[in-house]
Amino acid sequence: MIPNESSHTEPAPSGGIHVCPAWAGPLLCCPLRRLFERPETLLGDHVRPGMTVLEPGCGMGYFTLPIARMAGPAGRVVAVDLQPKMIEGLTRRARRAGLLERIEAVACADGDLGLAARPGVVDLAVVIHVLHEVRDRQRFLEQLYDALRPGGRLLLLEPKGHVSRETLDAELALSERAGFRPAGEPLHRRSHGALLEKPR
Ligand SMILES: C[S@@+](CC[C@H](N)C(=O)[O-])C[C@H]1O[C@@H](n2cnc3c(N)ncnc32)[C@H](O)[C@@H]1O
Repeated sequence: MIPNESSHTEPAPSGGIHVCPAWAGPLLCCPLRRLFERPETLLGDHVRPGMTVLEPGCGMGYFTLPIARMAGPAGRVVAVDLQPKMIEGLTRRARRAGLLERIEAVACADGDLGLAARPGVVDLAVVIHVLHEVRDRQRFLEQLYDALRPGGRLLLLEPKGHVSRETLDAELALSERAGFRPAGEPLHRRSHGALLEKPR
């Protein structure tokens, strides 16, 4: 069982969950990060022009801007974060990069990603270095499942070293309970995770 994941319906107690502080947002977007975590390498096989991509836990947009470039002018990125300051930082960076019109940047409530009004419209959900910070992971995964179209995919990555293989396996068990099926295991030196699919 994941620490703090007491049941698949009840939110877990908040003790032990550490949410990345907003002051770290600019650090996460530091260009040096590209030396060991290139968005194009991690995402290039998954994002296609014209896709609608959902990125919960987007931070200040280290992955969001490259996703918007890969999705092209006909694509859309729905970028959601718990912390309004992260969304403000992302919006600034997207405006500067001329990508704002492809990105819908939204601050969400804890436990509600705000996606209920548009089920089944997302082609790909990208959750990178986020799930271990989420208080109620089951509910989070269920919301992603509902937002995806049948056949849509979830790319889930967690940082090796920071998130153990046991925790990742427990997260994958929760994803299965939400309805996801395995669709592959992305290979990366610094992250582990899975490519998951909502069955057609
Ligand atoms: C470690 S940061 C990673 C940011 C980004 N994915 C990256 O790799 O640069 C985790 C982000 O997830 C957000 N987060 C944590 N719990 C969340 C939740 N329940 N719903 C939405 N966002 C959440 C945090 O506010 C933070 O911006």
